[in-house]
Amino acid sequence: MKRSKIVGLGHYVPTNIVTNDDLAQRMNTSDEWIQERTGIKERRYIVPGKDTGATMGAAAARMALENANLSADEIDFIILGTLSPDMDFPGTGVLVQRELGLDKKGIGALDIRNQCSGFVYGLSIADQFIRTGMYKNILLIGTEIHSTGLEYNDRGRHISVIFGDGAGAAVISATDEQDKGILTTHLHADGSFAEELAVAAPSSTQSPRLTPEMLEDGSVYPVMNGQLVFKNAVRRFPEVIREALKATDYQPEDIDLLIPHQANLRISEAVRRFMGLPEEKVYNNIMRYGNTTAASIPIAMSEAWQEGKIKEGDLICLAAFGSGFTWASALIRW
Ligand code: ACO
Repeated sequence: MKRSKIVGLGHYVPTNIVTNDDLAQRMNTSDEWIQERTGIKERRYIVPGKDTGATMGAAAARMALENANLSADEIDFIILGTLSPDMDFPGTGVLVQRELGLDKKGIGALDIRNQCSGFVYGLSIADQFIRTGMYKNILLIGTEIHSTGLEYNDRGRHISVIFGDGAGAAVISATDEQDKGILTTHLHADGSFAEELAVAAPSSTQSPRLTPEMLEDGSVYPVMNGQLVFKNAVRRFPEVIREALKATDYQPEDIDLLIPHQANLRISEAVRRFMGLPEEKVYNNIMRYGNTTAASIPIAMSEAWQEGKIKEGDLICLAAFGSGFTWASALIRW
């Protein structure tokens, strides 16, 4: 049977660096508060007129293709995760397909809406398509623009300080090696928490979908029950990591590197402690990029790989939690 493995990783972050002090000039916050509660020092915001979700996704994809030694023409299918599409419809997947010059080839482009868990959900979908023999090379992208959708005032400050923009990508290919690649994936959701981390408007349930009142009352901006998100995240991350370990008969100490969704440094630190892992076995880059939702795991994985922290034969664990609530994990033998 075919297995799937990640053969190339890439990422793109905008050149525009926004520090905590920069944010403190725009709203009532401080570097001290942000670092203490989230670990974030700075994040990237798009350069208007230059960066879009599609151009960032395509840049990350080109880097992943180069690292995989594949040309875009060899890709059979695209999966793209984002909660911040460039257009209401169509999805950003077709825009990235066009950016990569694959439009005339006609390959499929699937958009998925699983927020912070988007990359791991996408990885699981790619794995199933490859195991069944339907596709050989799949491009999986997470791309996110938060900066244009945040509220820089007292009402939104606990959310605005967290998020940043960027994109990450992976090329996933079929392999005959039975002991390598994606070993297992686990996907979960609990819709009873849908409104606890959400953006309510524009909404297809209302006509017109966007009104001046929505701008005024803030329903176009994200709401987040921060403490509830925190509580559920620190429970679900370890739970879904243990589920992946159980499915493959591994123990926490077998993990060479855990790459958690970069939600908040305090969440990653709590998860590390619950799992009994030493600091060097958990990769974090939220300090530099904030939370980039569907892009956070592939950006982190790409950087970890560049830094030589992912080596041949390593057992890599990915885990995510976010809006929905959704949560997911994957174990990969590199
Ligand atoms: N700067 C300064 N003060 C602030 C800010 C800010 N940016 N934001 C809130 N405060 C104030 C509040 O007004 C409040 O003041 P008060 O005590 O006078 O009322 C005080 O700080 C504490 O506010 P809380 O919201 O209770 O702060 P909390 O300790 O819960 O920290 C945070 C907030 C960082 C958001 C935390 O709840 C958290 O990390 N939650 C998890 C969120 C998360 O990770 N979300 C992303 C995951 S899901 C996804 O990726 C989509």
